[in-house]
Amino acid sequence: MLMSEGFSRVVEGERINLRPLRIEDVTDAYCRWMNDPVTNQFLESRFFQHSRESLKEYVRSKSGDTSYAFFAVILKDGGRHIGNIKLGPIDSVHRLGDIGILMGEKDCWGKGYATEAIRLIVRYAFNVLDLHKVTAGCYAPNEGAIKAFMRAGFSKEGVRKEHCYYNGSFVDDVLLGLVRPVGNNHR
Ligand SMILES: CC(C)(COP(=O)(O)OP(=O)(O)OC[C@H]1O[C@@H](n2cnc3c(N)ncnc32)[C@H](O)[C@@H]1OP(=O)(O)O)[C@@H](O)C(=O)NCCC(=O)NCCS
Repeated sequence: MLMSEGFSRVVEGERINLRPLRIEDVTDAYCRWMNDPVTNQFLESRFFQHSRESLKEYVRSKSGDTSYAFFAVILKDGGRHIGNIKLGPIDSVHRLGDIGILMGEKDCWGKGYATEAIRLIVRYAFNVLDLHKVTAGCYAPNEGAIKAFMRAGFSKEGVRKEHCYYNGSFVDDVLLGLVRPVGNNHR
């Protein structure tokens, strides 16, 4: 596998690029994304208060860990950092990687950027890291995330009933997956 080589790469898309997330990316804006009750409502990270220091520590730990590939999502037009996407933990025995995404800038929601970012990280997972399958998990009420993964080619593989405590009740956890197409690189 080309993991350590691959981790330093930029993945170029049509309207966005993915590039490795750096400590300098931990700005007040990133801190605001993580503490925003609308943005983090479906994330386990909502149970913690985040500071620039705690986020720097988190980014530092992930960038030194070869079982993660952590990218900033950058608009090609203007270079704005609008969110992050992560592949990991990567299981090199089963050649699996789990995807997590946070599009922090709300004015960029609903424009197809998450769908494009997911497509790009999938391409990276299959073509650079030679993974066999990618997965994701979403709270059932997180319709935007489920749609973005499905538009990027994922299928629903299962539902863990009432698996997550959300907003005063228990909601389903939707398990999504995408197997690398046989004999073909993913585009
Ligand atoms: C969920 C999230 C990733 C969606 O990002 P996005 O850039 O708005 O997604 P896209 O524009 O690619 O949208 C994909 C589809 O979902 C729809 N959508 C987006 N947000 C939606 C919402 N809140 N409710 C219903 N549909 C929504 C879009 O209209 C689009 O539908 P279409 O294919 O019919 O046009 C983003 O809102 C986010 O990061 N939220 C906070 C963190 C989070 O929940 N991460 C996911 C954890 S699993």
